[in-house]
Amino acid sequence: MVGVFGCVLKDGNAAPVIHEALKRLEHRGYDSVGAATIHEGVVYFKKDQGKIDDVYARYGLGSLPGRIGLGHLRWATHGAPLQVNAHPHLDCGDKVAVAQNGIIENYAEIRKELEEAGHVFKSKTDAEVVPHLIEQKIKKGVRFEDALRETLNRLEGSFSVGVMSVDDPKRIFFAQKENTLTIGVGEDAMYCSSDIPTFLPMTNEIVAVESGEVAILDHSKFEIRKFADWSEVSRKPKKIDWVPEIAEKEGYPHFMLKEIHVQPSTLKSTIRLQEEYLDLMTTFLDRAKELFLVACGTSYHACLAASYMFSKMASLSTHPVYASEFIEQVGKSVNIDSTILALSQSGETADTLAAVDYARNRAATILGLTNVVGSTLTRVSRAYIVQQAGPEIGVAATKTFTAQLSVLAQLALKLAEKRGKLSHVEMEHSKEKLKQIPEIAEKVIKTEESIVRSIAKKYRDRPYFIFLGRGISSAVAYEGRLKLMETNYLPSMADAAAEMDPGLISLMRPGSPVVFICPRDETRRNIVEDIKRAKGEGASIISIIEEGDEEIKALSDDYIQVVKELPEFLCPIQFIIPLQLFAYYMAVERGLDPDKPRHLTKAVTVK
Ligand code: AGP
Repeated sequence: MVGVFGCVLKDGNAAPVIHEALKRLEHRGYDSVGAATIHEGVVYFKKDQGKIDDVYARYGLGSLPGRIGLGHLRWATHGAPLQVNAHPHLDCGDKVAVAQNGIIENYAEIRKELEEAGHVFKSKTDAEVVPHLIEQKIKKGVRFEDALRETLNRLEGSFSVGVMSVDDPKRIFFAQKENTLTIGVGEDAMYCSSDIPTFLPMTNEIVAVESGEVAILDHSKFEIRKFADWSEVSRKPKKIDWVPEIAEKEGYPHFMLKEIHVQPSTLKSTIRLQEEYLDLMTTFLDRAKELFLVACGTSYHACLAASYMFSKMASLSTHPVYASEFIEQVGKSVNIDSTILALSQSGETADTLAAVDYARNRAATILGLTNVVGSTLTRVSRAYIVQQAGPEIGVAATKTFTAQLSVLAQLALKLAEKRGKLSHVEMEHSKEKLKQIPEIAEKVIKTEESIVRSIAKKYRDRPYFIFLGRGISSAVAYEGRLKLMETNYLPSMADAAAEMDPGLISLMRPGSPVVFICPRDETRRNIVEDIKRAKGEGASIISIIEEGDEEIKALSDDYIQVVKELPEFLCPIQFIIPLQLFAYYMAVERGLDPDKPRHLTKAVTVK
């Protein structure tokens, strides 16, 4: 993941162009860098872990010869951030070079087959199967272009991949499936990349490569073909007027909005978690005599939601604890029978690591859930899962929260299956709904964004906000409050709704905005009463309801609708999205920059 770039030039060297292109993605975060070129029938390549400029200087990457080349920034998904796992990857004969973003789901079976046929793999990545599979087909007498076509048709998952071969040394091939790729049409040069900013200073004429298509480029022209039947697709370039800063955000004014909008696609990646990871993790969870869910901030809210999922679906009771309080609150009781599931998108939060360290010293079992392969949390965990959300730039966690929720939902479901806690019908229904989660997220964004924006406009001058929910939705209320507070510096409070009396009700005045999270689950009857109670105080009710919930609509001043009849364990994913949008649009309406909240950093790595 992160970025793939390639170019074919009429004159000059590709390597420095690749260097500059990768530098334009540098601020996103990555762990390794690599590039390959072809010159006089030889593939030249260098790669390593580390910063772009360091790796370039260390290996003289900028002086690789040749007019055609590929570059890659890696954010590890399979295999640790080590030199061998950096891209590009080559076949056994060093004739085919490949750089890839995304995930090839069926790589394990392809790799096994190729190893049995004698191929030697150097890395632990999914990407390395691509050059070897092409090589295997060429060995059997298939010409390179056909070998590539057959290979692309064999790959499952969501990926974009750049391929070059000494057998076709003047052209570069870029294909994508359920991912993103764009061609940049230059003067005497063609570019292709997962990210438009990589080539924007050279050209603003672009052509999108759609899912299931391959772009074939030489220095003067491009063609696009469907990889199913190699039929040609005609598509004309269009001009974009993005300045580099907007291009970096793919046309969105802020990273926060971009990251809210990419959630359907990150959820697609997270629900494709390999069974073996879920299986290993749930084996530990199943055995746990005592399970602590430990994290800070947004990740802690995911722990709260998980505590409901694990208990209700798999009869596993857990203790969600703030990492910062862990040692004081439960430290002395932790022992060899304790299991800690630590959540940290960065994998580097100081309080979370301190809690983990403390528990390890008391012989507890440590499990991790993080977004960063190779982070400290992955190194200290007995088993861990990477949530596959890709790097998050916005300080306010958005896509990494829904990714955490989706992994936790899968763990709860798997554990329920292992423990035989759900009927066959419930299990099948839950699995089906889990599959639909990306589309549901997309629908919520599409239909509700403008409504949320108008609600933000209406309430932008209110001095404080209250968020309430019951059951698993209390976790959504806490997270909605955190989003608003950190991006808007507005006093905001949240609680489990039953606690409002006595409590937050004392702050409700005529016109005080109170946000209620209202799924139609077992808590609904009570939440209706809570709303009436708040209404009695004159509060302005903003509710997040399931489509067509007329009763709550009638009680609300404003409402936002999400999809109806989603199983409870998946509800937080769709209910938090309008609250992320609300925090974002409130900040915009109030003239604040949601990407740069004051006094906050992305990861709190010091205590
Ligand atoms: C949430 O929007 C914040 N960025 C913050 O609360 C964050 O969730 C917290 O610092 C934990 O970070 P982690 O998941 O990287 O450990």
